[in-house]
Amino acid sequence: TLKTISPQDLAGKKVLITLGPTREPWDAVRFWSNPSSGTMGACMAMAAYLRGADVTVVAGPTNVDFPSGVTVVSVQTAAQMFEACTDLWPDMDMACLTAAVADYHPVPFGDTKFKKTASDGGGITVEFELNQDILKTLGATKKTGQKLIGFAAETGNIKSEAGRKLESKNLDLIAANDISKDGSGFGVPTNQMFVLDRHGRAETWPQLPKTEVAWRLWDHLLLG
Ligand code: CTP
Ligand code: CA
Repeated sequence: TLKTISPQDLAGKKVLITLGPTREPWDAVRFWSNPSSGTMGACMAMAAYLRGADVTVVAGPTNVDFPSGVTVVSVQTAAQMFEACTDLWPDMDMACLTAAVADYHPVPFGDTKFKKTASDGGGITVEFELNQDILKTLGATKKTGQKLIGFAAETGNIKSEAGRKLESKNLDLIAANDISKDGSGFGVPTNQMFVLDRHGRAETWPQLPKTEVAWRLWDHLLLG
């Protein structure tokens, strides 16, 4: 099979992947979310699986499917993703968080449908509260030997933001991309990455299929 002819350099490693968007409910029928397809995380998970890892995926709402050898935990909200990941992390060797986690959730209107008459004919204002940072929490509780990969979606200064997030979240490796560029980010099969590790090794990669980005990121992490 594909798995046995791939290098088994992640054999015996327990790997956690987050992927997709989160979905933050406001009322019975409406939510706040983003267009993440989960492709980058699916590629990270499949590459790790083919290289012999024991893979657990925590997935927001997406259409991605995995072979039966991959454990999938399906969640909706950032709070549920946080719960699942913080439960799993102590038992993991590595985690790679690709999910486009909503930074905020709307303060719920309730479990019924909001009626437009409820706003007296005018506009409405929705209040948002901050979600917990899953990656930062895993970084803060990282034990010796555990490895953590983060992603960063940027529209501004990629290099300085990547460095800031690598430090503040206690990461081993960060993969940053400029989502304002074609061929990078949401809903495209390619990504163009700036990669920085905790030893200060920095690389700018050409635009590559997400499958190949994933393979190279595991290669890079295994450099140590
Ligand atoms: N992340 C997370 N939990 C959150 C927010 C982000 O685990 N609540 C993770 C993402 O999965 C990604 C990394 O943190 O691996 C960076 O996400 P990004 O949105 O680029 O950074 P933020 O720290 O949220 O900062 P900002 O959105 O302001 O750039
Ligand atoms: Ca964010």
